[in-house]
Amino acid sequence: MNTSHTAQERATPSDARLWPLTTAIDERGRLIIGGCDVAELARQYGTPLYLFDETTIRDACRAWRAALAASYPGETAVHYASKALLNTALARLIADEGLGLDVVSGGELYVALRAGFPPHRIHMHGNAKTRAELEQALAAGIGQIIIDNLDELDLLANLTAHRLSPQPVALRIAPDIATDTHAHIQTGHATSKFGLPLDALDAAAERLHAAPGLRLVGLHAHVGSQLFDLEPYAAEIDVLLDAAARLRDRHSLTIQDINAGGGMGVPYTADQQPLDRYACAARLGEALAAGCRQRGFPLLRLVIEPGRSIIARAGVALYTIVATKNLPQTRFLHIDGGMGDNIRPALYGARYAAVLAEQANAPAEEVVEIAGRYCESGDVLIHAIPLPRARVGDILAVPVAGAYTLSMASTYNLTPRPAVVMVHSGVARLIQRRETYDDLIARDI
Ligand code: LLP
Repeated sequence: MNTSHTAQERATPSDARLWPLTTAIDERGRLIIGGCDVAELARQYGTPLYLFDETTIRDACRAWRAALAASYPGETAVHYASKALLNTALARLIADEGLGLDVVSGGELYVALRAGFPPHRIHMHGNAKTRAELEQALAAGIGQIIIDNLDELDLLANLTAHRLSPQPVALRIAPDIATDTHAHIQTGHATSKFGLPLDALDAAAERLHAAPGLRLVGLHAHVGSQLFDLEPYAAEIDVLLDAAARLRDRHSLTIQDINAGGGMGVPYTADQQPLDRYACAARLGEALAAGCRQRGFPLLRLVIEPGRSIIARAGVALYTIVATKNLPQTRFLHIDGGMGDNIRPALYGARYAAVLAEQANAPAEEVVEIAGRYCESGDVLIHAIPLPRARVGDILAVPVAGAYTLSMASTYNLTPRPAVVMVHSGVARLIQRRETYDDLIARDI
């Protein structure tokens, strides 16, 4: 539908860097994204509704590719970590932008392939890939399987023993690097469940030598998520290059790729600073170029896997305020979504901003609790947020809602999952319909 907004748009939200790039506030104070009136979309498609701004997604893809290419003289590649969000339209958009894709399950791989994503640009991760998932990846001819442990290596060696052309694989290393992020999303420490401990590298090399169906092409690590400090990335590159040198010197194995993983942080609230993509790419590029030189390697290919920093800012969650509750010390605004579509506050204590979509620049008059609809006291989407006086029926817009929300959504309380709309140049396109009650019983026998 065309909700093209022709009236003069005169303002941007006060914390503009939390909102999609095309966000504006019109002269009536209404939030406009991708040229579309956000509250109108909420009423047309129903809420909760997740809205994605195509311009912001494409810009993030291009910015990462450009930043990496400008920061490193060798080859570079950006793979979108699809666990942050994946659906058919998004897979096509990411493919169109020339990125690769990381998948961590047969389901993500299935969606990517069905969307027509080029298999040679897909990498598969996972610490517990099943035999069926590995067979699916091998049959699809994906670009790399990133091996997480020796058991997986043995299984893959068996599955590929009689292949004529070997399957390219990488090894995920546990680099033993600490990061300053929530404990649930630290992944690079020595006791992590992810990746090969460095002392298992020789064993992995020996098994790779004995596996004619596998060809080692890269080393990978991922130190954590929602990171702002660049030093763990530089430290990680060094650990990976030391491992690459050991593989070369002791085992005559040469690699082409150094994959530094994802984890680049984004601000969720006005008090947080964004991570500068160029600074991050520059730190990675300089660490890899210098490290290759020191160890006598040619310039290896630099790969990164951002998820959140590509999709988080492009997504805005829209809810209807369905009821209120006033206590002497607190006022609750009860919304029609919550932990079913965004578990991050309950799981990580994540904080979010919000505005009323029809009074987007009105001054705050009260501090409220945004209470989710799910039957858990912990389902409070936002604590203590200042807002203009809100009424039942108002539309609440929550920015930076694109990553790890829908991809972690559930049907808890048997509440259908939201619809998803993509906006661009005044046109809104439904890219995923709302789940229905019939969907809820579709698997019941
Ligand atoms: N590569 C690997 C191997 C990963 O494990 C991850 C994320 C990424 C890339 C992408 O990280 P990103 O750039 O999106 O931070 N559910 C949590 C985040 C879990 C991240 C898991 N791994 C959250 O909502 O904060």
